[in-house]
Formats: sequence, C-alpha cells, structure tokens
Amino acid sequence: RTVQAHTGAAELGPYSHYMHKEIFEQPRALADTLEGVESIGPELFDGLGEQPAKAAAVFAQIDRVLILACGTSYYSGCVARYWLEDMAGVPTTVEVASEYRYRTSVPDPRTLVVAISQSGETADTLAALRHAQSLGMRHTLAVCNVATSALVRETALSYLTRAGVEIGVASTKAFSTQLAGLFLLTLALAQVRGRLDAQQQAQQLKAMRHLPLALQAVLALEPQLIHWAEAFAQHEHALFLGRGMHYPIALEGALKLKEISYIHAEAYPAGELKHGPLALVTKEMPVVVVAPNDALLEKLKSNMQEVRARGGVLYVLADADSHIRSADGLHAIRLPEHYGHLSPILHVVPLQLLAYHCALARGTDVDKPRNLAKSVTVE
Ligand code: AGP
Repeated sequence: RTVQAHTGAAELGPYSHYMHKEIFEQPRALADTLEGVESIGPELFDGLGEQPAKAAAVFAQIDRVLILACGTSYYSGCVARYWLEDMAGVPTTVEVASEYRYRTSVPDPRTLVVAISQSGETADTLAALRHAQSLGMRHTLAVCNVATSALVRETALSYLTRAGVEIGVASTKAFSTQLAGLFLLTLALAQVRGRLDAQQQAQQLKAMRHLPLALQAVLALEPQLIHWAEAFAQHEHALFLGRGMHYPIALEGALKLKEISYIHAEAYPAGELKHGPLALVTKEMPVVVVAPNDALLEKLKSNMQEVRARGGVLYVLADADSHIRSADGLHAIRLPEHYGHLSPILHVVPLQLLAYHCALARGTDVDKPRNLAKSVTVE
C-alpha cells in the first residue's frame, strides 16, 4: 500500500474528515489547476518541458485517443470521451486498465494513449500503459496529481492537476481537476484539428475560469444533501441514473456512495431502465437522477415517470433553468443554470456530498473505508 508521500500532514482545519475538506477545496483546486493557463494549445501538455513543442508534434500526428484508468479516474475518462468526440472530432475509447492490459487488442500507432491517475502509482494503470507501449503506441500522456510519480516519468507528455495532496481514500478534488485537464486536452486537440477558433477558445476558457465560483454555489447546497442523506442512509440499495456525459457522473456518484457508506449502489444509463433494472424499483430503492438541463432532459423525464409509476422515490439534481420541482415522491435540488459541456464538473459535487453525509450517518470510516487503499499499487 503506497501511502501518498506528502510533505507534512495536511491540516484538517474546521473539518472532521479529509474527504469533507477536499470536497470543499475543489474551487481552489480548480483555480490552481487553471492558474497560468493563458491560452489553449498543445504546449499545455509538454509536461516538465524538457522538449518544448513535443506535444504539438504529437497532436499533429494522432487520429484517435485511447484512455486507460481505474475507478474514479476511469470515470473522468468516460466523461472526456463525450467531449473529445463531440468537440475535437477525435475517435476515443476508454478502457478499464485491468482489462486492457490482459486482452488482445488491435493497436494503432497513430493513437494518443492517455493514462489518468491521481497517484500515478496504480499498478493496473501503469501496466496498461506499458502494454500499450509494447504494442508500439509511443504517443503517451499522463493526467496525474503527483509530479514525481512513475506514471509521469513513463509518459512522453503530461498534464499535472494541481489539486494538492488528496488524503481521503475516496477521490474528490482529484476527479474534478482531472476533468479540467481533460477539457483542456479536448480544446487543444480541437484547436489543432481546426475545430475551435480563437473566439470559441476564449469563450471556453472564460467558462473554465468561472468554474470555481459556480462550484461555490453548488457547495452551498450542502444542507439539502444532508437532508437527503438522512433518508438515504436508511436504505441498503440505490440506483443512479444519467444520460450522455452525465452517465459517468452517475457511475461516479454510485462509486462514492458504495465505497464510503457501504450502501450497494449501481448506476445505469437511464435508457437502460426498461432493459432490466426497472424490475428492482420499489419504494425501498431510492433512485438518484443526474438531470442537467441539456438536450437529453426530456428523455430523462420519461425515465423518471417510469420510476414514479413503480412507486420508486426520485432524488433529482436539476439545473436552475429547468422546470423540475419537488413533488410527491420526487425530491429535487436545483443547481445553478446549465453549464454546458462543463456541467459534469458541477453535477458530481452534490453526489460527493451525499456519499459523505450518508457515511457520517452510518458511522463508517470516511477517510479510510474498509478493505480499500488510497493507491492500489498491487494487482
Ligand atoms: C476513488 O474514489 C477510489 N479511491 C479509486 O477508485 C481510485 O480512483 C482508483 O483506485 C484509481 O486511483 P488513481 O487515480 O490513483 O490511479
């Protein structure tokens, strides 16, 4: 078990747990990760900068992306796939590292292999990267929170998230800063591929700079999540639903709840309900719905009606500009106005808070949940 080597124990301050502190550090972590990003371009990924313009050369010669990661880091890669294909037009696959490293796959030398890891020491992710390299895929990039880690040493390019030391086993600020780094990668690839003009770049960068403030507004919703947790903590099972780029956010919310409160939680693409999971829905099975005000909301609303018709109780995260309100069997929390492509970064925060307060209510060890380690350096 590699306990992340950190310079001096980070202080808890007014918090009772590192995870709570780290959830509330996300505005600062995002501001730090974006600090110094004056403009969008491949140079952001030159890593420690030994060879300037290395990333520009790589970005010009790749035509697909393969993302390798585990756990929460895998889910940030799943969000990035929607961005990369929609905004940069680059075919993207995301693989669980422990699966990729053992399966027979078809390599393409014009692939950018992106390995995502908070610790940079996860055995499966390192092994998957090495496997890809052994297949002749030399263009590699790390999105990582530890500059001195093996992953950063072994990749040609890198983007260092500046989340600061993350001590809670359940990853929170590392996830949101990974998303920021992956969004910048999307913008840089879109620019290289002629899909993002200067004005659009400026707009996206402006939206990113506003994120810390938007996150503050979401964190202010904590009292409502505490209220949800009071009911939620009584259950042993829960379903999380999402569509599009928010399906990985539902997956991440289910993982957070599972790993620190020990409530069995599963996430599904909302469109899958009819293909089986709906059989599970009763009033004993709370259903969390990540319901941003995007193009998929109308479809999502019909899934919500399917749940209500079976007596399921809905817990809905809605954007302020949608018309979803609390009603019988439907608890709604309203986030700020829809935030476009960056919406997943906002919608994950209430799910982090829900998991945290459920764990508090159930008296589990929030920062060191049973059976888990902060960095899984063994298979
Ligand atoms: C996340 O809350 C978990 N602790 C776990 O899934 C973690 O994301 C995974 O082990 C990957 O760790 P890494 O990001 O350090 O590679």
